[in-house]
Amino acid sequence: MEIENKIVSAVVLGIKTLYGQDIAPETVQLQKTKKEFAGHLTLVVFPFLKISRKKPEDTAQELGHFLKTEIPSVVADFNAVKGFLNLVIAPASWIGLLTDIHQDAQFGLTEATDHSPLVMIEYSSPNTNKPLHLGHVRNNLLGCALANIMAANGNRVVKTNIVNDRGIHICKSMLAWLKYGNGATPESTGIKGDHLIGDYYVAFDKHYKEQIKELMEEGMSEEEAKNEAPLIKEAREMLVKWENNDPEVRALWRKMNEWVYAGFDVTYKALGVSFDKIYYESETYLEGKEKVLEGLDKGLFFRKEDGSVWADLTPEGLDEKLLLRSDGTSVYMTQDIGTAKLRFRDYPIDKMIYVVGNEQNYHFQVLSILLDKLGFEWGKDLVHFSYGMVELPNGKMKSREGTVVDADDLVAEMIGSARKMSEDKINKLTDLSEDEANEIARIVGLGALKYFILKVDARKNMLFNPAESIDFNGNTGPFIQYTYARIRSILRKASEAGISIPETLSAQTDLSEKEISLIQMLADFPNVVKQAGSDYNPSCIANYCYDLVKEYNQFYHDFSILHEENENKKTFRLVLSAEISKIIRTGMGLLGIEVPERM
Ligand code: ARG
Repeated sequence: MEIENKIVSAVVLGIKTLYGQDIAPETVQLQKTKKEFAGHLTLVVFPFLKISRKKPEDTAQELGHFLKTEIPSVVADFNAVKGFLNLVIAPASWIGLLTDIHQDAQFGLTEATDHSPLVMIEYSSPNTNKPLHLGHVRNNLLGCALANIMAANGNRVVKTNIVNDRGIHICKSMLAWLKYGNGATPESTGIKGDHLIGDYYVAFDKHYKEQIKELMEEGMSEEEAKNEAPLIKEAREMLVKWENNDPEVRALWRKMNEWVYAGFDVTYKALGVSFDKIYYESETYLEGKEKVLEGLDKGLFFRKEDGSVWADLTPEGLDEKLLLRSDGTSVYMTQDIGTAKLRFRDYPIDKMIYVVGNEQNYHFQVLSILLDKLGFEWGKDLVHFSYGMVELPNGKMKSREGTVVDADDLVAEMIGSARKMSEDKINKLTDLSEDEANEIARIVGLGALKYFILKVDARKNMLFNPAESIDFNGNTGPFIQYTYARIRSILRKASEAGISIPETLSAQTDLSEKEISLIQMLADFPNVVKQAGSDYNPSCIANYCYDLVKEYNQFYHDFSILHEENENKKTFRLVLSAEISKIIRTGMGLLGIEVPERM
């Protein structure tokens, strides 16, 4: 920021003038002044003691005097505490800073150019045998937020999804549908396609378990029974038929997958999630096979006696890894290699980020090594954005038992609660149409869900507490949204009263520390965006928004805005409020969270 740059230059000049030595600007360390001292920015003087050959306190004093005389429009005053020089920044500089922010609609965001690094981010990546659940919700929200954050840091971003649309799990749903479905379709039942398929996956499991039980009662071991149950055998046969392009199996597979995709689309749309390019395992797994065989030819992999193909990762301190089964069929890893090949062919990828749960840490560790061996430039540095499990307070979510927290149900429930809360509110908005009220409930309900999940460090396991997430008080999405709506209402009132917001602010002589602190926080936004990008950490944007809003609410509580009599002050506070709302909207936007104009 402008202020810091001016101070750094002046410090360099000061050292030269006072002590006759040149220093590099990078050696000048400025930090936010600690709360207990007067001042806004603090210069760390210790690195200069060798040059000044004076006590820390004296060096700080001398530099303080120099700065105050050299740049009085920036440094209004100072105090020295040992080797720390606390600088009081002049009001004019804060006003200038706020004006800069005010004039920059894209403040904090860096636009990509044609030459910017290309970052591909994979997220969502569902299987097509069941609907999306709470875990996917966390995945999608993290993926989207990360994509926005990487784009805000000047990267070209491609959002991608790999749909695992083939394999034994899909055959299980298909088989159960054939056996127990009586031709049911989404149309005939009114059930969303992905849910319908999920129901048959559950049905398969139920019948399969019964068969296992029977076989065990007849004396089979559990392992044997699991292997010999007629249902699983049939499912395997179906998979073989699928691989052999059996027209009937393929037609059924296509039909049922279409139902699932139609269902997913509805969920994605509700969540506000989108992709630039979708890959399908059915189109990539053969490429993977080919790539593995290529690697075998090059001596990167080896074949065992039974014909299976393996990678020896013991030199890397890992295991041997299966890449092709003895019957030539591919495994999960194989399709990832194929998918990588196609992605690399389609885009000049500089960085690849996979948003996948931490139960697959080992998989991605191995994938990275394999891709590197196979010559993918980004292979070694691929990023596995590994996130923790998310559960509801009342227990686990497991797909097999059918007690999974369904994404659609969850979204509907959140929006429903938001709607109910606004109806129960004392000062409820009475002049809203039904549509408007629904739209606000949608924004608030989703905001609650998204914010609650994104404010947590992604690596950590977490509980999603619906009631807590939608509370208007506390570190929640609705709390931030409410503050935004409040500012927008003030700005509307100002505009109705004929007060216009100027491009440039006029000078102020006295600013309160609260106001200065708000400007300082606003000015910090670009750093927060950078930090979020370099750490792949959406939660730091969430928590920044919360801190900003908390600080603003204190200001709002203690100061009047529209009732302020001094016109200059009133305008300043309006601009300050407008900029706070702008940064809330931008920050929440990076998280994929909308903000309502009224609430
Ligand atoms: N569909 C997989 C699952 O549900 C996740 C895929 C993750 N992405 C990947 N490139 N392997 O477990």
